[in-house]
Amino acid sequence: MKGIILAGGYGTRLQPLTSAVNKQLLPVYNKPMIYYPLSMLMLAGIRDILVIGMPSELPRFENLLGDGSRWGLRFEYAPQEEPRGLADAFLIGRDFLAGGPACLILGDNIFFGRGLSTTLQDCARIDSGAVVFAYAVKDPRRYGVIEFDPSGRALSLEEKPEKPRSHYAVPGIYFYDSTVVSRAARLKPSARGELEITDLNASYLEDGSLRVEVLGRGVAWLDAGTHESLLSAANFVHAVEERQGMMISCPEEIAFRQGFIKAEHLARLLTEMSDNEYARYLRDVLEDS
Ligand code: DAU
Repeated sequence: MKGIILAGGYGTRLQPLTSAVNKQLLPVYNKPMIYYPLSMLMLAGIRDILVIGMPSELPRFENLLGDGSRWGLRFEYAPQEEPRGLADAFLIGRDFLAGGPACLILGDNIFFGRGLSTTLQDCARIDSGAVVFAYAVKDPRRYGVIEFDPSGRALSLEEKPEKPRSHYAVPGIYFYDSTVVSRAARLKPSARGELEITDLNASYLEDGSLRVEVLGRGVAWLDAGTHESLLSAANFVHAVEERQGMMISCPEEIAFRQGFIKAEHLARLLTEMSDNEYARYLRDVLEDS
């Protein structure tokens, strides 16, 4: 399975922070925001990744991430001229996906929690249908909302409803089979002029091929799209890392533990890093292995 990180948009809600720096490159405590969704794809075992961003921002992403070989990955980059909706990622990514299945993750979504890697790896093995997640939130009106029956069967999906039918939001990570591009191509823009991910998911729901995985209490899902949520995300990462002495979403560590790179490779990366806390952490990871 291949992965797509959608990292476009104008970041208007975060201005003036985003006036000169792309949202997904802003720091979330000690890492650029995009490291967090990237890490999720890596934990799912996905190594072929397309990064989609505004044309003016792509060089900055390339500067940070390179061709991926540093982490045993392969990156491609593609522009999205304007925010035409999340499902547009599959029209932009058509050639990259080459008829195969895909995982889409939004560049501002941060996840952390027990059992997540296993769940992601399991989802990455789907060969038909789609998997979305459900996460209980206080104010579901800000999100795509999913309703499901006690057996976990999806009943309805709505994008930012006035009167939500459940408290479950659909987080910004989605797994799709190889029909995703043709389904995205059939979508019509919504009233707000976007190709909605919720409409794409609804096409799987109509076929009875949408699986819902509930992310329970042990999992944190944060989106860092407002000043408040950006600070909360940074505070969360800081609190967990300080307490446990383990990093959240460190691509070098994940690449090493997943076997994408060997010890000698990590040791070589360390020689290229300045001697700061990030590098010292990785040195400990290497020595403990
Ligand atoms: O965070 C999860 C939510 O993401 C879902 O529950 C919703 O169903 C889904 O529509 C989306 O809602 P948002 O209101 O958060 O979407 P937003 O327009 O803010 O876009 C999310 C990110 O994707 C944001 O970082 C900008 C980027 N983006 C957005 C659009 C519309 C793009 O890169 N290209 C786009 O065309």
